[in-house]
Amino acid sequence: MDTPSIARMYDYLLGGKDNFEADREACEELAKGIPELVAFANDNRAFLGRAVEYVSRQGVEQFLDLGAGLPTTENTHHVAQRANPGARVVYVDHDPIVLAHGRALVTDSAGTAFLMADIRDTDQVLSAPETHRLIDTDQPVCVMLVSLLHCLPDESDPFGMVRSLLDRLAPGSCVIFSHIVSDDPEAAAWMTEKILSFGTPWGRVRSPEEASAVFSGLELVSPWIDGRDQGPRAVDCATWRHPDRDPLRRPDDPEIKRWEMSGVAFKR
Ligand SMILES: C[S@@+](CC[C@H](N)C(=O)[O-])C[C@H]1O[C@@H](n2cnc3c(N)ncnc32)[C@H](O)[C@@H]1O
Repeated sequence: MDTPSIARMYDYLLGGKDNFEADREACEELAKGIPELVAFANDNRAFLGRAVEYVSRQGVEQFLDLGAGLPTTENTHHVAQRANPGARVVYVDHDPIVLAHGRALVTDSAGTAFLMADIRDTDQVLSAPETHRLIDTDQPVCVMLVSLLHCLPDESDPFGMVRSLLDRLAPGSCVIFSHIVSDDPEAAAWMTEKILSFGTPWGRVRSPEEASAVFSGLELVSPWIDGRDQGPRAVDCATWRHPDRDPLRRPDDPEIKRWEMSGVAFKR
C-alpha cells in the first residue's frame, strides 16, 4: 500500500476510487512535470474503446486484454459485446487488486474471464483454463497491449514476447497498441526516472521508432475514421480514428513532450 502501483495510479488519473494515498501522491508528483497527465490517461482509455469497436466491426470476436487495469466504466467486454454479443474477452493482469475488482466485474458475462498472470509468461496465459474456455487460437484473436509495454524493461524483451505470442495465433489476428513515447530524450528520461524513484516496477518511455517495433511484419490500419490512406498510421492515441480530429503523429503543441503512440495492426 506504500508503494504506488501502476494500475492504481492509472485508476486515480481516470477518476476512479480504487487507489491509495501513495498512488495519488505519485500522480501529483508526476503531474508537476507532465501537466497534461490526466488528459493523457483519459485519451488513452478513449482510444481503447474506439479501437475495440473498430476491431469488433472487422469481425474479430476474441480479445486477450493484456495488462487490463482496474475496471472502469467502458471496459473491453462492454464495448466488444455491444458490437457483437458473441464476443469473448480474457482480461489478464498481475496486480492482485485488479484481480479482486476484475473478478467481480466479469461475473455478469459468460463470455468474459479474468486471469491473474504475468504477461511475460505467454505459456501460462495461453494454457490457463480461462483462456482455453474462451479463446480458440485457430481463429483470429485481438491482442490488446494498451499502455502496457512501457511497463516492461528492455531486459524482459517486450517486443520479442509479442512476436512469439502472435506467432502462435491465427492469421487475421491483430494488436491494439499504445505506448508512452517521446522524441525528447530528456523528457523521456525524466518520466522514467520519476516512476522508478517511487519503487514501482516499470520499463521506460521509448522513442516512437523503438515502440514501432511492435508493428514489424504486421499491416497497420488507417488511423482515419473514413479509412483514407494518408499520413502516418501510428499516431497520438488522442487522434486515432477520432470523429472530430485528424490523426497526428505527435501532439501539435510542442510543449507536450510525451504522448501515447497508438495503432491497430493485423497479421495477414
Ligand atoms: C497503465 S495500465 C493500462 C490499463 C489498460 N490496458 C488501459 O490502457 O486502459 C497498465 C496495466 O498493466 C499491468 N501490468 C504491468 N506489467 C504487467 C505484467 N508484467 N503482467 C501483467 N500485467 C501487467 C498493470 O498492473 C496495469 O494494470
